[in-house]
Amino acid sequence: MPKKREHISVNPLYARPDEDTAASRYVMRQDPMTPETAYQLVHDETMLDGNARLNLATFVGTWMDDQAERLYAESYDKNMIDKDEYPQTAAIEDNCWHILANLWNSPDAANSIGTSTVGSSEACMLGGLALKRRWQLARRAEGKSTEKPNLIMSSAVQVCWEKFCNYWDVEPRYVPISEEHQTLDGHDLASYVDENTIGVVGVLGVTYTGMYEPIEKISKALDKIEKATGFNVPIHVDGASGAMIAPFLQPDLVWDFRLPRVHSISTSAHKYGLVYPGLGWVIWRSADLLPKELIFDVTYLGGSMPTFALNFSRPAAQVLLQFYLFLRLGREGFRQVQQTSQDVAVHLSSGIAAMGPFELWNDGTDIPVFAWRLKKQHKAKWDLYDLSDRLKMQGWLVPAYPMPDDLSSITVQRIVVRNGLSMDLADRFLADMSADVEYLDRLAAPMPSQHKSKAFAH
Ligand SMILES: Cc1ncc(COP(=O)(O)O)c(C=O)c1O
Repeated sequence: MPKKREHISVNPLYARPDEDTAASRYVMRQDPMTPETAYQLVHDETMLDGNARLNLATFVGTWMDDQAERLYAESYDKNMIDKDEYPQTAAIEDNCWHILANLWNSPDAANSIGTSTVGSSEACMLGGLALKRRWQLARRAEGKSTEKPNLIMSSAVQVCWEKFCNYWDVEPRYVPISEEHQTLDGHDLASYVDENTIGVVGVLGVTYTGMYEPIEKISKALDKIEKATGFNVPIHVDGASGAMIAPFLQPDLVWDFRLPRVHSISTSAHKYGLVYPGLGWVIWRSADLLPKELIFDVTYLGGSMPTFALNFSRPAAQVLLQFYLFLRLGREGFRQVQQTSQDVAVHLSSGIAAMGPFELWNDGTDIPVFAWRLKKQHKAKWDLYDLSDRLKMQGWLVPAYPMPDDLSSITVQRIVVRNGLSMDLADRFLADMSADVEYLDRLAAPMPSQHKSKAFAH
């Protein structure tokens, strides 16, 4: 029998030492192994993951071009916080949020203030913290209690807002959505606002459906409330997806710093900012809206760089990728990319509506995201969870889930169209989904007893 040492020299893959036993998972193994074997073990295990490009559940980027990948590989060793060591990267971060302040119609972009984050969750936390601290400072100045801050938002907010309220002791006031008010739209807002309200969150591209909340309408409702009560309530726009769609596809929609009540806006660069995970941005319309005591100064090259973030170290590569895209695409390139995604979304939503059993919740004309539910008469046969399972067998990841309060009895399914889901692949998806519907219908149909075995053939 050959010795193991001889095995190494002829390198028979999967028959080398450590490749003939299961890897140690919960306790660190005692001895090292070769890098080739360790690589192969990790590489092979992740083959069991889904295919990221077929993941129609995620908002997060799964494709970038070759030059971006080259830049990524050149810079993944840089830490964003090391502004002394990487002053150019720090300057590029600064360029990026100024570009965004301008894109979001800041009346004085040079005087805005912003930062990169690891994603929208961190960006939303920072936006929420600024709202809370400004409210506290104003209340203290008036000798009033700061015990019970509250934040108003739709019941359909992303979980990061529930986290914010939980982590920082803010009472969440959820406005339930309904068939009549499918998003937070300013309706009945007065019954939620009081002197302890630190702000209202408006979402541009609701996670559950992709719909825009009408920020201008919310702002006008708050104007009315201020007139009646004197409570001046600011808005943070959670534009995780929509803040990188609306400027290109709906430039006339007023949702951003054109509204004075909008104090801050956040987005996920790794969603429709088209960058790989994880990068987000948060920007305040003017520096005075971010209380100074929340900012820490990092000095570099004789100057000083203000930082306001939850994490200290984080990757810098994505910031460079964002700047690459701003240069590479420009406004017109971003418009073309987002318009193509929207065309694919509308093509998919109309194809799904035409299949028969489904009723669209929306059609993908806000952000390129849409949801649908089963028509009532189909409910007894099979549900969207069954369809989700069928699609998964072909590699497509399309989640089914209940809507939030007060619509939690409704189950929807949702598709997020991203750069990289081509019209050709979309047609492939429609063909697969149509075949799945046919299969599920056939399975649910009452079987004539004499043809029992044929009824299940497919
Ligand atoms: C509206 C909204 N806000 C916040 C988030 C959190 O974003 P991130 O995953 O970048 O932290 C999401 C994620 O889907 C979202 O859709």
